[in-house]
Amino acid sequence: MSEGAAKKEQKPRKFQAIRGTRDLLPPETALWSHVEQTAHEVFATFGFGEIRLPIFEPTELFARSIGLDTDIVAKEMFSFEDYEPSSVLEYRSAIITWQEPRDVQGPPGPLGTGALAKFQPFSALLSSFYLAGREAFEKRLIPRTPENGSLLNELVGERDIFLSSIQSRNDRENRADVDRLKERVRRLQLGDELTLRPEATASVCRAYIEHGMQQLPQPVKLYYMGPMFRRERPQKGRYRQFYQIGAEVLGGSDAPAIDAEVIEMVMTFFDRLELQGVQLDINSIGHSADNCRRGYVEKLKAALDKVKDKLGPDSQRRIETNPLRVLDSKLESEQAIIATLPHIADHLCEDCAAHYSAVKHQLEMRGVIYRENWRLVRGLDYYMRTTFEITAQGLGSQNAVCGGGRYDGLVELLGGPPTKGIGFAIGEDRLILSLQESGKAPPQQGRDVYIAWMGERAHATAIRAAKVLRKAGFSVELPPVEQKFGKALGQADKLGAKYALILGDNEVSEGLWTLKTLADGSQEKYTEADLLEYLRKSL
Ligand code: HAM
Repeated sequence: MSEGAAKKEQKPRKFQAIRGTRDLLPPETALWSHVEQTAHEVFATFGFGEIRLPIFEPTELFARSIGLDTDIVAKEMFSFEDYEPSSVLEYRSAIITWQEPRDVQGPPGPLGTGALAKFQPFSALLSSFYLAGREAFEKRLIPRTPENGSLLNELVGERDIFLSSIQSRNDRENRADVDRLKERVRRLQLGDELTLRPEATASVCRAYIEHGMQQLPQPVKLYYMGPMFRRERPQKGRYRQFYQIGAEVLGGSDAPAIDAEVIEMVMTFFDRLELQGVQLDINSIGHSADNCRRGYVEKLKAALDKVKDKLGPDSQRRIETNPLRVLDSKLESEQAIIATLPHIADHLCEDCAAHYSAVKHQLEMRGVIYRENWRLVRGLDYYMRTTFEITAQGLGSQNAVCGGGRYDGLVELLGGPPTKGIGFAIGEDRLILSLQESGKAPPQQGRDVYIAWMGERAHATAIRAAKVLRKAGFSVELPPVEQKFGKALGQADKLGAKYALILGDNEVSEGLWTLKTLADGSQEKYTEADLLEYLRKSL
C-alpha cells in the first residue's frame, strides 16, 4: 500500500446526520425561535398552558390511540425494547454472538466425538439462559407475557433434543439448528416495548388521566412543541425527525364553539406570522355508529367495490383495510372515479349533522374563512366529527402545514373517564419552509457592539465594558485575544456589528471610550455612563 493510501485509510470516519434528520443552524434557528415565541404568546392569549411530554412512551399507547391499521403504527414507528442489565441479557448476547470453536480437535474415532466438543458449549449456554430466564420470569424482572412463558418452556425441550442429536448429525445440520435456536432466544422479550413519539395527542391524553386533570376546571387547554419521529421516506417537507407545535382541549363539553375557537387560534397564529396562501379545509366524519360513519363506510365500500378494477393497488388494498383512506388518494388517474363516490355529509346522523353545521356557524361568527372538503378524513383512527387541515404556499406535495380534529372517547379508550377532546398539530418544519419561501427573513442576529481592545490594561476595561453592556441587554462580541485595530474592525464588519467600541491605552487613561459607527465610519468619545445612554437611544 502506498503511503498516501495508508494515510487515507487511517483518516477517522466522518459522521453525517441520519437520513431524515437534520441540523438546524443559525441564522435559521432565529426564525424557529421567533415562531415558537409567537406560539407561546398567541396560545397564552387563548388561555392555553404549556405541557412538556416525554419523547418516548409505551408502544401500546400509540398503537391503541392511533390505530393498528394506520400507516404510522403499521410501518413508521421507531420502537425499541427497554431492559435492565441482567444475567439473562448477558446469556442472550452470548448465545446470539456464539461462534463454533475452530480449533477443536476431536480425538480420532467414531463420527461425532468432535461434534460434541464443538457444539456442547452452545447447549450449556442454552441451559444457563433458560435458568436465568425462568428466574427472571418468576420474579417479574422480564415481562410475564404468555409468549415469554411458552418460549421458555419450549426452550428446555429444544435444548434436550439439540444436545441428544449433536452426535448423530453432521456439522452443517448442527449449525442450522444453532441458527434456529439463536432466533428463538432472540425472541424472548426482556423489557417493555417503547416507541419514540410519532405524535403527541396520545401522550397528552395519557397525562390528562395520569394527573387526574378531570378534577381541574374544564376544559383543560394545553399546548406543546417538540420533535416527533416517523419512519417516512424523506423528501422536501417530510422528515423522520420533525417538529410539531400542537394544542389540545380536553373536558366534558363538545360545544361547537370549542372546535371553532381552536381553529380560530391556529388561524390567528398563522396570521400573526404573516404566513402566505393559508387555506383551511374542514369536514365532519361523524361518529362510529351504524346510522352514521359505519353506515357510510359500508356504502362507500360497496361503491368502491364496483370501481375496484379502475383503482391502483394502494386503493384496492384500502378498500379492504380502511375504505375511507381511499378518499386521501392523490393519484391523478383515480380523481375522476373518487369524485363519483358518496359524500359523508349526506350520511351523518342527526346529532353529528347538527354539530357540523353549528361548527360552521361558529367559524363564520369568528370571521374564519373555510372550505368544506368532503374528502378530508385524516390518517389517524381516533378522529370523529370535526376534522380540519390547513395548507400554505410554497410547500409542493407536502403542503399540509396543520392537521387536527375532534377525538371524543380517546381518553376513555386509554382507561380514563368519559372525556371530549379536540386539537391540532402544526408541522413546524413546513411552517418555517413556507415562511422562508415567501421571503420571511430570520430576525436580525448581528452583534450590537464589537469591542476592539489592545493592551493588557485595555483588556481588563474591555471585560468590564462587555459585562456592563450585556447587562443592559446589548449583544456584545469580545475577542478573546488582542487584535490589531484594522483586523478587529474587519471582523466587526463580518459579524454585522453596528458599533465598534475601541479601547486602547488612551481610552483607558482618559476614561473616555471611543465608539465607531460602522455604517458611516464616524466616531465619538463617551464616558461609560454617556455611552450606555447613547446606545440605549440609538439601538
Ligand atoms: P398529523 O396530520 O399526523 O396529525 O400531523 C400534523 C402535521 O405534522 C402535518 O400536517 C404535517 O404538517 C406535520 N408532519 C407530519 N408528519 C411529518 C413529517 N414526516 N415531516 C414533517 N412534518 C410532518 C397529528 O399528528 C395529530 N396528533 C394532530 C392532532 C392533534 N389532532 C388532534 N390533536
